[in-house]
Amino acid sequence: MSYPYQIKTYEEYKDAYRKSVDQPEEFWAEIAESFQWKEKWNKVLESDFRTANTKWFLNAKLNITENCIDRHLYNLGDQPAIIWEPNNPKEKSRTITYNDLYVKVNEFAQVLINNGVKKGDRVCIYMGMVPELPVAMLACARIGAIHSVIFGGFSAQSIADRLQDTQAELIVTCDGAFRGNKEIGLKTLIDNALVACKFVKTVIVLTRTHIPVSMIKGRDLWWEDEIAKVQENEHTFVAPVAVDAEDPLFILYTSGSTGKPKGVVHATAGYMIFAAYTFVNIFQYKQGDVHFCTADIGWITGHTYIVYGVLCAGGTSLLYEGIPNFPDASRLWDIIDKHNVTILYTAPTTIRSLMAFGLEPLKGKKLNSLKVLGTVGEPINEEAWHWYNENIGKGKCPIVDTWWQTETGGAMITNLAGITSSKPGYATLPMPGVQLVLVDEQGKEIEGNDVSGNLCITQPWPSIIRTTYNDHERCRTNYFAIYDNMYFTGDGCYRDENGFYRITGRVDDVLNVSGHRIGTAEVENAINMHSGVIESAVVGYPHELKGQGIYAYVIMEHIHDNKHETKLDILQTVTRIIGPIAKPDKVQFVTGLPKTRSGKIMRRILRKIAEGELNSLGDTSTLLDPAIVEEIKNGRL
Ligand code: WTA
Repeated sequence: MSYPYQIKTYEEYKDAYRKSVDQPEEFWAEIAESFQWKEKWNKVLESDFRTANTKWFLNAKLNITENCIDRHLYNLGDQPAIIWEPNNPKEKSRTITYNDLYVKVNEFAQVLINNGVKKGDRVCIYMGMVPELPVAMLACARIGAIHSVIFGGFSAQSIADRLQDTQAELIVTCDGAFRGNKEIGLKTLIDNALVACKFVKTVIVLTRTHIPVSMIKGRDLWWEDEIAKVQENEHTFVAPVAVDAEDPLFILYTSGSTGKPKGVVHATAGYMIFAAYTFVNIFQYKQGDVHFCTADIGWITGHTYIVYGVLCAGGTSLLYEGIPNFPDASRLWDIIDKHNVTILYTAPTTIRSLMAFGLEPLKGKKLNSLKVLGTVGEPINEEAWHWYNENIGKGKCPIVDTWWQTETGGAMITNLAGITSSKPGYATLPMPGVQLVLVDEQGKEIEGNDVSGNLCITQPWPSIIRTTYNDHERCRTNYFAIYDNMYFTGDGCYRDENGFYRITGRVDDVLNVSGHRIGTAEVENAINMHSGVIESAVVGYPHELKGQGIYAYVIMEHIHDNKHETKLDILQTVTRIIGPIAKPDKVQFVTGLPKTRSGKIMRRILRKIAEGELNSLGDTSTLLDPAIVEEIKNGRL
């Protein structure tokens, strides 16, 4: 498969960028011609940031699975679409060709139909990293159902919150998931979530770990049994349902600065085009390349660069079940050598954690199939960048640092491998179609170079967030109302003397812990649910491996004799309410919090204390009780 829209030189990048700014509609319409449509659009773009409404390819009809699968069958039918590497290297890997994927997606689409799923219905997917996860997503898309994948690290309570928001009546899950030397009982978590979600009618359970599970008559079905029923017919074909370009493809929950996660909604056509366009250009994908993205499909990175972007391009996606240090810290390098991986896309936190093992795990590893390296999810520190470059890329592989968000659907600021320059710690330049501005607190543009500000985007791109599920006003106020007529990213950013962008981190109350987005308000809500807690405040602090760690200041009714035990109980509560990823690294018990006279917590002060910058707390005289600052400083962990 060739990609007419693949940028091959720096000149072509500049031309593409210029055209995307001068004639955005012509630019994207031309790219859209490379995709398969059931009906073409009659207008390319309609957008109004003030009401948070954007539509692309109006009135066009398509099915994304035809673009991800059917159209490849003639030329690429026998090519691997997905290579699956299990948690334990003793278990065999699996190769799923495009022909195989076609059969599996059709079969599972029929299973969904047999269980009453129709176009527009929501289906929640809570599975480990097994090939049946993308199969389930694509099967939903095939019949026009909207999938919402829930990350396997979330607790029953978080699952229930998401189910209630989507009102999904069908769930696809696994008995359990393998993760390093652990076995996680996914079905049990679902059972616990469903106590509060009586509207769920059907749970389809794939066998993965053989952990004992309860199967409730009339509600729970085995994946294998449902497939066997479908296979009684020899060739199952489910006609790909024509959906509107703007029909939602999926909902993916992410954290914001308020306590409740938001369901980010992406529309089918725009998301598809931006996913494929960015995939092919950023990684400079060529037929035969093996793309290994280590993200979990429960996050946007997995949606776009394990599933949709790669498959739309007819590429080969390596899907990996385990964790980088199981059975040992050579795991990723072994996988690369075993499957001749050409592109490795991972998070800085993974690089840092592998760096900590030294060079021993790299002994005897060839890594000579690698051509391109990538990072995503958080700013990369220079030390990790150089380690990655020297030890993994052997100085020969360009490193793309891709900045983007759940809400942007695909990568927005990044270098293009081997085409535009890289600079350690910098995401560098915007993708074609992406128009950036830096603004001050009042929303005034900060022009010129060597300046910092809040990062905003002024023009719509195809995979822009369409709404937050069930609550459009929240989408408008969160992203489009902070600065007039702009999309606000929530990130701070520096533009250097050459116009290269460097993301400096969130400027709102969102943390980035090991590349996972977590809202401080969410963690506070969870801590406050613990019996005896009066109030809490959560801030981030620099953490060597995780990028950011979570620091919680907690006021208790009475401090127990055994503070350590109380701390563990609080962690247990957070695990139960959100999931283990949101557990604070540090819990400091305090008798009060620094508040303004109007009762607002001065997080700036708490952040400085957590960071250990005790001498630069600024003016504390306006506080309700300035003495509390001394107490907190003295008790700092
Ligand atoms: C951060 C992940 C610096 C940023 C795709 C953003 C980054 C948030 C980078 C979105 C990067 C992502 N450099 N920071 N290359 N990529 N971020 O929604 O703060 O899970 O706002 O999407 O991660 O996280 P999300």
